Order: sequence, then C-alpha cells, then structure tokens
Amino acid sequence: MILEGIVTTLSPTGILNIAPMGPEVETGLERFVLRPFRTAQTYQNLKAHPEGVLHVTDDVLLLAQAALGPVEPPRPCFPASHVQGWVLRDTCRYYEFRVTSVDDQQERARMEARVVGTGRLRDFFGFNRAKHAVVEAAILATRAGFLPLEPMRAQFRELEVLVNKTGGEAERAAFALLNAHIERAAQERSRAREQPGQPP
Ligand SMILES: Cc1cc2nc3c(=O)[nH]c(=O)nc-3n(C[C@H](O)[C@H](O)[C@H](O)COP(=O)(O)O)c2cc1C
Repeated sequence: MILEGIVTTLSPTGILNIAPMGPEVETGLERFVLRPFRTAQTYQNLKAHPEGVLHVTDDVLLLAQAALGPVEPPRPCFPASHVQGWVLRDTCRYYEFRVTSVDDQQERARMEARVVGTGRLRDFFGFNRAKHAVVEAAILATRAGFLPLEPMRAQFRELEVLVNKTGGEAERAAFALLNAHIERAAQERSRAREQPGQPP
C-alpha cells in the first residue's frame, strides 16, 4: 500500500528539505520503498546523504505548502536520534530511515529504506473528507506543469465542495494555496500560447 507522508532530508550543505512522498509500505513499517522522481530534491539529497525521516501526519496545510516548494515560515523540528536528520514537531508518528539500495534506471527512482528509529508525538485526527480532498488536490497541483489543466480545474471544483463542507480553517487555507497554484499555471500557459517563443 501507499502511505502518503512527508519526508525530511538534508542537502549536502545541511539545508532541511520537506516534501510529501508516498512510499510503498507494509504492515509493521520496518522497511519501505520510496519512489522519488530523479528531479526531486528529496532524491538528490538521499543520493548524497542516504538518511531521512518519514512523517505520518494529518497536517494537510504543511503537506500542501511542501508540495509547492520550500515551507515558510520554517516548522519547529528536533534532531532525529538514529540518523542525521530532523523530525517535524507537529506530526503524529515518524520513522527515521536509512536508504539501503537505490535503483535509478527509471525516471522515478526506487529507494529501499530500513527504519532505524520511530516515535509517536500525538494522535491522528481521523478520517476527514476535506483533508483527503486536500491530499488529492496537492497531488494534482504537483502535476500542473505537465498535465492538461482544464480537467484538473474541474477536479478542483469537485474537491472544493468537500473542503468547504467538511474542513476547517487549515484545510481551506491549504486548498486556496493549491488552487492559486493551478490558476497561476493556467495563466502562464495561456500567456505562452499568446506569445509563442517567449519564455512563459
Ligand atoms: C501526497 C503526495 C505524495 C507524493 N508522492 C510523491 C512520490 O512518491 N514521489 C515523488 O517524486 N513525488 C511525490 N509527490 C510530489 C512531490 O511532493 C513534489 O514534486 C515536491 O515538489 C517534491 O519536493 P522536493 O523536490 O523538495 O523533493 C507527492 C506529492 C503529494 C502531495
């Protein structure tokens, strides 16, 4: 199964990177398989320093922000105990891991990871349709650069109903960020169509 989580890694210069990632996991979570695109910072970081922390969280605002780029303002963290890396303080559970093998023949790499330390910080909120809608919208938003935008906008309109009906402030803020991102992408594409040859 895929577990949609948030992975923290370190760049070679020690900069913390926070990115949503959906590793393949099995019950027990002693090992998992990350599938980062080779273009992802997470991939680059893990190639250079094969340790990180996988977080299980219900904080969809952080998930949305991290899907779109560097997270501002920085989130409170504390140092991991078993790897060189950082744990997000506002998370439900976390898994410190070490990458044990890398297959990067494909555009999407396959990185097997072994869990070397875990922790539990707070309860998971529970099922909520708005939170799940934000996860779906965040995945779509990360594809706004290359997928057709009209079907994506239609999906956003459907997801928005769930967010408004069942979400709180954080879910609405997260959805607004993602929506603004795809609207910007749509504007850039229509500008590029109007002015062919100009950089978008
Ligand atoms: C829920 C969720 C799961 C994701 N899973 C993956 C994944 O498994 N592999 C991947 O390369 N990108 C995945 N993404 C997209 C990345 O989060 C996105 O491209 C991000 O910008 C990568 O950040 P980075 O370049 O800092 O690593 C996922 C996004 C979301 C919202």
